[in-house]
Amino acid sequence: MMNGNTAIVTGGAGFIGSSLVDRLLATGNNVVVIDNLTTGHLSNLNESRKYGEERLQFEQLDVRSREVTEVIADLKPETVFHLAAQVDLRHSVSDPMLDAETNIMGTLRVLEGARKSNANKVVVAASGGTLYGAQDPALLPFKESLSPNPGTPYGISKAVTMNYLAAYEDLYGLDGTALALANVYGPRQDPHGEAGVIAIFAGQLLRGEESTIFGTGEQTRDFVYVDDAVDAFIQASEIEGIKFCNIGTGIETSVNSLYQSMASLIGSSSQPQHLPSRSGELDRSALDPTYAQEALGWHSNISLEEGLLRTIEWFKEN
Ligand SMILES: NC(=O)c1ccc[n+]([C@@H]2O[C@H](COP(=O)([O-])OP(=O)(O)OC[C@H]3O[C@@H](n4cnc5c(N)ncnc54)[C@H](O)[C@@H]3O)[C@@H](O)[C@H]2O)c1
Repeated sequence: MMNGNTAIVTGGAGFIGSSLVDRLLATGNNVVVIDNLTTGHLSNLNESRKYGEERLQFEQLDVRSREVTEVIADLKPETVFHLAAQVDLRHSVSDPMLDAETNIMGTLRVLEGARKSNANKVVVAASGGTLYGAQDPALLPFKESLSPNPGTPYGISKAVTMNYLAAYEDLYGLDGTALALANVYGPRQDPHGEAGVIAIFAGQLLRGEESTIFGTGEQTRDFVYVDDAVDAFIQASEIEGIKFCNIGTGIETSVNSLYQSMASLIGSSSQPQHLPSRSGELDRSALDPTYAQEALGWHSNISLEEGLLRTIEWFKEN
């Protein structure tokens, strides 16, 4: 993104989206946030509001509405960052229609707006963990060349989004990049959601409550700090011709070892209870960052320990 350009951020009142908005404003861009506030909060934009309404505009809109296409077309942004989504994997299982309406139809309405406005670039938040799904562990960390195996409605709706993005590039020359994100964590993540194990542990450990780990806790995830994820969105917006790439560290961390690291940083000796594992949960996941480095010049800068410290500090203050 160049100074003085206008970017649209759908889902800009959410966890990752609001951090992206902060960065875009701090580097001199104007931003229009489109969000219906289902899981996002206006308070996530408190810091951004200091730039004034000239620089930051907020449109409370549902990406499923027809209006969203017209609003984007009229605004004529240089770049569209599409992060608004139904983000809850388990909710996608109980209500696959709502998931598809938001993540597939909603994405199409946003892409139509970007096409009509002749936007230079669209960057979409995809999901690396759910895209590859269950694979032979010998293939870890997973590369972009693997065949997708999304085993849930959320994984499927996010994977389909990537196909549409590629089709819009072929059909209309709309330059799009999908970022297959690993497990993003950091300040502002909603502990009431399903996805944010770090936000959940942080809240429980700081309040002295017992945490629950589903299954053995030896299941692994690839945790990437939110500022690193924001770097990837910015870098992707500046480079042409990259259809999609992983955004992860390539490092597997088990839920048990994550819990122990967080407990020791917080100074808690409490032990978690274990409950039976939940269906649909992956055993192991990590995303190979080699192509992100080659294609975008991206790599993660913040170690898990540093990111956990920053996240815990934020939860203490908020
Ligand atoms: N957090 C992660 O680890 C992770 C991993 C992979 C992919 N992603 C993707 O990154 C994006 C951002 O996720 P997040 O973790 O910041 O979650 P979030 O829930 O904080 O952000 C999603 C935002 O979208 C908004 N939204 C939801 N439905 C909408 C609709 N119909 N119309 C308009 N706005 C709507 C919500 O209000 C919220 O502000 C999502 O697309 C998610 O699928 C996140």
